[in-house]
Amino acid sequence: MAAPSKKLQDALNAQIVAEFHSAYVYLSMAAYFEAENWPGFAKWMRVQSREEVEHAMKIFDFVNDRGGRVQLGAIEKPPVRFASPLDAFRKAYEHERKITQKIHKLYDLAVQEGDYPTQVMLQWFIDEQVEEEKITSEAVARLERAGDHPHALLMLDRRFGKREE
Ligand code: FEO
Repeated sequence: MAAPSKKLQDALNAQIVAEFHSAYVYLSMAAYFEAENWPGFAKWMRVQSREEVEHAMKIFDFVNDRGGRVQLGAIEKPPVRFASPLDAFRKAYEHERKITQKIHKLYDLAVQEGDYPTQVMLQWFIDEQVEEEKITSEAVARLERAGDHPHALLMLDRRFGKREE
């Protein structure tokens, strides 16, 4: 099996960078939560950030396994200011929606290029994005319900901190 076409390799390389950018976005959110004394939300974001590195590495390994050439690019600066826990999780949800669009476009390209292994590899990401949107939108809904009630927010922080590594 030949390596993915040049066009597809470029798009896969761009997705590797997008996943590292996601890791950066969540790490930036973790830093915000650490600074604001929300240890549970911070832990959740750290775990999420690490998962994003795994996503990047999945594509990295795939390109190499196919005899392609991984070329890393610059990682854009993540947002650093957040108004509240709700604001951070809303941004997380919006971020995931954008990533879903990127994955779908990448899949379309793999179809156009007639590259079946890339299509199969991307199916994992298509499923994963359903999960990513679900968990971030649920977090937004919980935070909206908690509103400004300190007790409810503290309980949520504790619950989010139980996320497994
Ligand atoms: Fe790699 Fe959060 O999607």
